[in-house]
Amino acid sequence: MTHSTEREKNRRQLLKYLAASPVLGMGAKSAMAATGGELLQRPADPYVWKPFDPNFLIEKPEDALEVFEFEPIAHKNVPAAHFGFMSTGADDEGSYRANRQDISKFAIRSRRLRDVRKADPSMEIFGSKYAMPYFLCPIGSQAMHHPDGEMAVGRASGKYNVAQSLSTYASFSTTDVNKARGGAPVIFQLYPQSNFEITKSIVARAERDGCKAMVVTVDGTSNRKDLQFERSKRDDRRLCATCHDVRPGAPKSPMITPKTRAQFTEVPAALWEQKGDDAMTWEFMKRLRGVTKMDIFVKGIMDAEDATMCVKNGYGVYVSNHGGRNEDTSGSTIASLPDIVAAVKGKVPIFIDGGFRRGMDIVKAIAMGATMVGVGRPYLWGLGAFGEAGVDKVLQILNAEVLAAMQQVGAVSLKDLNPGMIHPAL
Ligand SMILES: Cc1cc2nc3c(=O)[nH]c(=O)nc-3n(C[C@H](O)[C@H](O)[C@H](O)COP(=O)(O)O)c2cc1C
Repeated sequence: MTHSTEREKNRRQLLKYLAASPVLGMGAKSAMAATGGELLQRPADPYVWKPFDPNFLIEKPEDALEVFEFEPIAHKNVPAAHFGFMSTGADDEGSYRANRQDISKFAIRSRRLRDVRKADPSMEIFGSKYAMPYFLCPIGSQAMHHPDGEMAVGRASGKYNVAQSLSTYASFSTTDVNKARGGAPVIFQLYPQSNFEITKSIVARAERDGCKAMVVTVDGTSNRKDLQFERSKRDDRRLCATCHDVRPGAPKSPMITPKTRAQFTEVPAALWEQKGDDAMTWEFMKRLRGVTKMDIFVKGIMDAEDATMCVKNGYGVYVSNHGGRNEDTSGSTIASLPDIVAAVKGKVPIFIDGGFRRGMDIVKAIAMGATMVGVGRPYLWGLGAFGEAGVDKVLQILNAEVLAAMQQVGAVSLKDLNPGMIHPAL
């Protein structure tokens, strides 16, 4: 797996700058000042910089000006526990907040007098050309937000040729979602199961369905504490069993049904289990390498030495803290990126996610050395608010913003974005 190193030459300059900068050392006190003393108040989304106005609600997707406007509608539509599951972070939600806040601690220096009329954000990876340098993150059981779940997301993202990653616990299988997309297949996300035969079966199915790449999530090894999710259940009197069909043949509910095992329907029922594999090591990754030809990314990397291990073993690096849902106070993903870019030296592609909400956020991460940027919760807001039409509009907004951001900073292609353009926002 190789990746262009054109941006590499400016990387050292950025790292040197950041090392001397107060930006990443900015303590909670100054961060509090920067956010009007509201750092410890919910929500991290939608805004970090201005109070959320719960009284303003758009009526139709076309009215939305930015992705945040879908969030309160989704909140209204989606059952309380399902919305709580989506919006929660772990513990004090420090990682969740940091993801978003730290993006604004990096400023971008624009270049002028370049003809940007033909600016083009498209890119190629795993033999597919995508219109945009961002992808939709793998998010489990999307039927909990709208009955059409990943199928709606597949149709909308296929329409705009935006990459989509599909969770192991998706409500629909790679077979169905790849058909819904029509173009480039989904990037399959794997939660390895403690029974390797099951893991092999769901991976083989993704590969048979045409998937070219797989992200293996390795950051969820403990029982996390999602307080907001747990509290939201107190407002939701429904019995989970009437809604969640977690095993084949379980009775369907007329309510929103967050099916979670579509990818498993070819696994013999006798092998079914609920447990993911907590015993993963680099040795396990080798075993996995042996059962698929798909490109493999390791999702959940936050440390440069782990990134080096990925390079050594030929895996792509996926920088992620699971949207702040696993370990709290991990620091933001964007703050980890410069060290990881330095360790990777352009040898494998780098994905990153966590807090990316605007086109300029995406453009900045690409300039810092990411190959592709994952967007998570915003498309769920669109889905929960208006189904496919909501996701469609979220993508329209992001696509327009990415293009505008590139033009504004003077980039005709993604190659024009480089770490020399990034500096601390003081
Ligand atoms: C409701 C929800 C479910 C998720 N499910 C998965 C999953 O099944 N597999 C996975 O690798 N990551 C999962 N994630 C993490 C996302 O892939 C991604 O890392 C995160 O949402 C990015 O942060 P953002 O939402 O701030 O953009 C989930 C995130 C959310 C919010």
